[in-house]
Amino acid sequence: MIRVNDLSKNFGARQAVDGLNFEARQGEILGFLGPNGAGKTTTMRMLTGYMPPSSGTATIAGFDILKDSIEVRKRVGYLPETVPLYSDMTVFDYLKFMADLRHLPNPKQAIDETLLMVGLTDRADGYIGNLSKGMRQRIGLAQALLHKPEVLILDEPTIGLDPAQIIEVRNLIRDIGKERTVLLSTHILSEAQQICNRILIINKGKIVVEDTPANLQSRLAGAERVHLRVRGEADELADQIRKLKGIQEVTIQGDGLLEFQFAPGKDLRPEVARLTIESKFDLLEMRPINLSLEEIFLELTHAEGSTQPE
Ligand SMILES: Nc1ncnc2c1ncn2[C@@H]1O[C@H](COP(=O)(O)OP(=O)(O)OP(=O)(O)O)[C@@H](O)[C@H]1O
Ligand SMILES: [Mg+2]
Repeated sequence: MIRVNDLSKNFGARQAVDGLNFEARQGEILGFLGPNGAGKTTTMRMLTGYMPPSSGTATIAGFDILKDSIEVRKRVGYLPETVPLYSDMTVFDYLKFMADLRHLPNPKQAIDETLLMVGLTDRADGYIGNLSKGMRQRIGLAQALLHKPEVLILDEPTIGLDPAQIIEVRNLIRDIGKERTVLLSTHILSEAQQICNRILIINKGKIVVEDTPANLQSRLAGAERVHLRVRGEADELADQIRKLKGIQEVTIQGDGLLEFQFAPGKDLRPEVARLTIESKFDLLEMRPINLSLEEIFLELTHAEGSTQPE
């Protein structure tokens, strides 16, 4: 469980995080989205005790990030934006070092289990300096998972990974998220859509929207659009559809292809289907057109003004 209460951070005159309030429950994966400089990393650093807030506070698993920072560190796993690694250590030794810092009772077993999870078992004795970027990212993930923390805070967990590893890591996060609390940041909107239960979009340190991926899509679509394909010319059919009550717009997209639009919640697909058949058109296809999360994201972060250049 993460509870954030009016959390703010400023660097001089720059307000990086501006009065954030949100919660993430156990069994929930919360996605943190926002343009470069929105304040995602800064928020995560405060939650994991790497940087004190300017004002406000938060609790992790019930412990205050300021007053009980030691308890917080025991219960949180953090994958930072850039993982500090020692090139002249082997993967195993590095994880052993991290396990000892955390006073794990059975380090060897914890390390072996974690290496298996992130797919690095066969590199355990290799030097970190000789590993590829994606493998280093996986070591970062391994040290975050090592002590099986209640809360995981992952700053762009799939960055730099190859497609196969991206799928593996997403599955891993999904699994972890069933029992624990995960806060992750990403710039890959389809990733947030696939693995997060809830999405929080921030811009200039403030929350601009918080919702489920599905709601986010329908909420932002001012109208529902449907794609319709029939055999032959569709001009005549388009004219007839325009006459239906509640239809907002009908456009011809090509031979036998048209799109129509109606207000959300007033589903006119049955009427249009009936009309099409009764007008003796062969109905080949009818499907809703969804706004992509990218379009929604741009609309939201643009409307609020983009982040100032550095
Ligand atoms: N240590 C620091 N000193 C001064 N300014 C900082 C510091 N850390 C972050 N900032 C500023 O705070 C703002 C938020 O940065 P932050 O790294 O939290 O953004 P982000 O959302 O993680 O962006 P990105 O998507 O690029 O990772 C930026 O304007 C950044 O320049
Ligand atoms: Mg960042």
